Amino acid sequence: MAVRFALLADSHYHPAAPKDFAPPKLLTRGPEILTATVPAVNALSPEFILHVGDLLCGGGSFELSRDQYERSLHDVATAYAGFNAPLHCVPGNHDCDAQDHRYGDFARTFHTPHVLDVVELAPRLRLVRAHIFRDGEADGGTWTDALDEALRGADAEARADGVVLVLMLHAWIHPGVGDQPTGGIITNAARLQETLAQCPTVAATFSGHRHANRIRLFRDYLCIDTACLIGYPLGFREITISDDGWLTARWHTLDLPEILAHSAGLSAEERNQRWAGEFGDRDTTVLLPRARAIWQ
Ligand SMILES: [Fe+2]
Ligand SMILES: [Fe+2]
Repeated sequence: MAVRFALLADSHYHPAAPKDFAPPKLLTRGPEILTATVPAVNALSPEFILHVGDLLCGGGSFELSRDQYERSLHDVATAYAGFNAPLHCVPGNHDCDAQDHRYGDFARTFHTPHVLDVVELAPRLRLVRAHIFRDGEADGGTWTDALDEALRGADAEARADGVVLVLMLHAWIHPGVGDQPTGGIITNAARLQETLAQCPTVAATFSGHRHANRIRLFRDYLCIDTACLIGYPLGFREITISDDGWLTARWHTLDLPEILAHSAGLSAEERNQRWAGEFGDRDTTVLLPRARAIWQ
């Protein structure tokens, strides 16, 4: 029995942006993009929806007032309540408030974990959600002792139960895109990579943050990194995992051609291609070797 779901990243809703900020983001078009997202996702009838963080424009860079932060939480929660399937999120670095960098209101609104938790997605498939940010700290996320211990514990339980894990966290785990290949990589990435090597039930990981599409096998686990929903390439993923361990990814662009063209027009073609990824970073079918080994 296959499982099919939607995967969203970096939607960066701002209720009243004074400007668009750096391309490809079009923050002034946030309300239209938010409105278009829910029917586009529902049209696919996914079993569940994953969002890998930066739903909002808090934290650094965007000068969001306290009132705007509270309105953002309300607007996005109200819109996403229209999803016809359960939504599972992890926080991004822009999901805290901009004044004190606290994640409590976001966690209460979107039911995100304090450190790490495990969600049953389907028979023999569990989602591990990692919160890689700490209150009061403005950084790109850290793989901490607590996260490491919790992931190893989830892996031990999954091994005992014959279950496959997928891990979601906001930042990238492996470098390798563009002229700043280590930008946007989680602090202590080497330790997380070593832990993933030693946790054989983790078949795939899902991240956002760098606003670029990439699908790569590292060792024997697949990393799926997803571009932003607030500008070019203006879309999200549909993912299917079959019970013999094949993963199929399909890219869906929002039906907002004027916004797509506007965002694309802000940057050179080469930069747009980096965000969109190669064809196989959007649409592909690849084996999840660890899922195949466990499920068979
Ligand atoms: Fe982002
Ligand atoms: Fe981010």
